[in-house]
Amino acid sequence: MRNGTDAARALLRWYVDAGVDEAVEALPINRFEAPPETAAAPSREARAPAAPVTAIRPSGQPSADEAIALAARSAAACRTFEELASAVAAFDGCGLKAGARKTCFADGVPGASLLVIGEAPGRDEDAVGRPFVGRAGQLLDKMLAAIGRSRKTDVLISNVVYWRPPGNRTPTQEEIAICRPFVERLIELTAPKAVMLAGGAPTQALLGATGIMRARGQWKAITLASGFKVPALPVFHPAFLLRQPAQKRLAWADLQMLAVRLRED
Ligand code: URA
Repeated sequence: MRNGTDAARALLRWYVDAGVDEAVEALPINRFEAPPETAAAPSREARAPAAPVTAIRPSGQPSADEAIALAARSAAACRTFEELASAVAAFDGCGLKAGARKTCFADGVPGASLLVIGEAPGRDEDAVGRPFVGRAGQLLDKMLAAIGRSRKTDVLISNVVYWRPPGNRTPTQEEIAICRPFVERLIELTAPKAVMLAGGAPTQALLGATGIMRARGQWKAITLASGFKVPALPVFHPAFLLRQPAQKRLAWADLQMLAVRLRED
């Protein structure tokens, strides 16, 4: 029979394997319930009177359709990258935000000719508030350096959702759909020459293509709701390459295609 320490260790190991990597509170919190209003804490309306596009029904989250409509109105009102970054940070319509520490909108150079779109922030990104800063981000930086590019000078990096999904699960179609107006507006405002789609989630979200194994290395056009089109190349996600280094050979070939396209007039 195992003693108590072994059993506790086994339980912790089980949690870690299931993706639970943080103890936030001793008791669960229903974050969909409206917080009680107190005299010390002003109402939501008193705190944010001029932002109807970020308003939430007092009973909790808006429905997915309402959230998409709020996001679309908020994104459409933005005229610059900075306005868009502020609008995303102020947006409360995506349920992921309640469980995240920080909003991770974008990192790099707005208006760069290359825009990289990944899946979702992980634990490191959530702690820092910038996309791709953990191990996968470090590999992404090496991949970009291999084609002479860097987020410090000529790449902008973002994701299809801006808040960390619990346990690093894949974001749902609904969460992606809610953030999508902001993703589309980011593409419109920064007008990159090419978009690198890192992994299956952004490839499916923006090209409708399922299966990164087949989609990678094939140029397609992202067509936005506004009609704006931009060439996009799906590539393996750096986190996948960390697990399957043998696939770096294919990723290298895809990066070369990207470099050629970026050099064209
Ligand atoms: N993986 C992603 O897809 N995005 C990040 O920001 C970090 C890891």
